[in-house]
Amino acid sequence: MLEARSIVKRFGGITVLHGLSLTVQRGTVNCIIGPNGCGKTTLFNILTGNLRADEGEVIFKDTDITKMPAYQVARMGISRKFQIPGVYPELTVVENLMIPLAGQVGQAGKSSKSGILQTLFARPTGRLGELLNLCGLTEKATDKVETLAHGEKQWLEIAMLLAYDGDLIMLDEPTAGMSVPETQKTAELVRRLQTEYGKTVLVIEHDMSFVRALDCRLVVMLRGRVVREGTLDEIQNDPEVVAAYLGGSA
Ligand SMILES: Nc1ncnc2c1ncn2[C@@H]1O[C@H](COP(=O)(O)OP(=O)(O)OP(=O)(O)O)[C@@H](O)[C@H]1O
Ligand SMILES: [Mg+2]
Repeated sequence: MLEARSIVKRFGGITVLHGLSLTVQRGTVNCIIGPNGCGKTTLFNILTGNLRADEGEVIFKDTDITKMPAYQVARMGISRKFQIPGVYPELTVVENLMIPLAGQVGQAGKSSKSGILQTLFARPTGRLGELLNLCGLTEKATDKVETLAHGEKQWLEIAMLLAYDGDLIMLDEPTAGMSVPETQKTAELVRRLQTEYGKTVLVIEHDMSFVRALDCRLVVMLRGRVVREGTLDEIQNDPEVVAAYLGGSA
């Protein structure tokens, strides 16, 4: 589904990505791990058109998106969560979910606000109900987002990304600042994106309890390169990985 080929990125005189290559297969969950500053977010920015690579190509669904601006990449079907939460605190949970859904309401529902709501609630459970259930916020549907716990805001944002209905969902450190139970729940939620919705997922994570719970293909980055790929079992005894990452801040 996604291929990054020999990506080089420099900031001034400093090279941050050194010919990095990465492949993500359709329908899989993949997690990028690596120490602070190794270039994970820079890679995400290049994949989503938020930054331009100095060298290399990005291919998404057989299309060269290397030079596409971010809005066009999003339209191609890449939905991305940034490190900072992207929800609207002064709006309710439902209103936040309506933002991505509103663009997908068919002609029938477009005439009025009540028409849009009817359309959204029309299916057996309704798309909105389904998303509320996914992020565990059914009971808080009409609460303002600013009153939610940190973890709940992150889950809401993941549900919003799903609502945009892209093929590839990219999450940058979704468990940052979360408690252990919240982290476990986030791993379950990310897994459901794949098992229930057939999405392809690429996630950046530091938290090893999340990585363990997610149980997916890992891509290890060190100093601007992908140095290992495999399951946690396959890489966790690798001396270079242990020295650089697993034995450290993890
Ligand atoms: N716009 C920029 N201008 C100059 N240097 C930058 C810029 N963005 C990132 N860098 C540098 O590039 C390197 C990689 O940063 P990046 O944010 O990609 O790392 P990261 O792996 O996401 O780290 P973290 O785990 O802390 O989020 C860092 O040394 C950072 O200071
Ligand atoms: Mg980062």
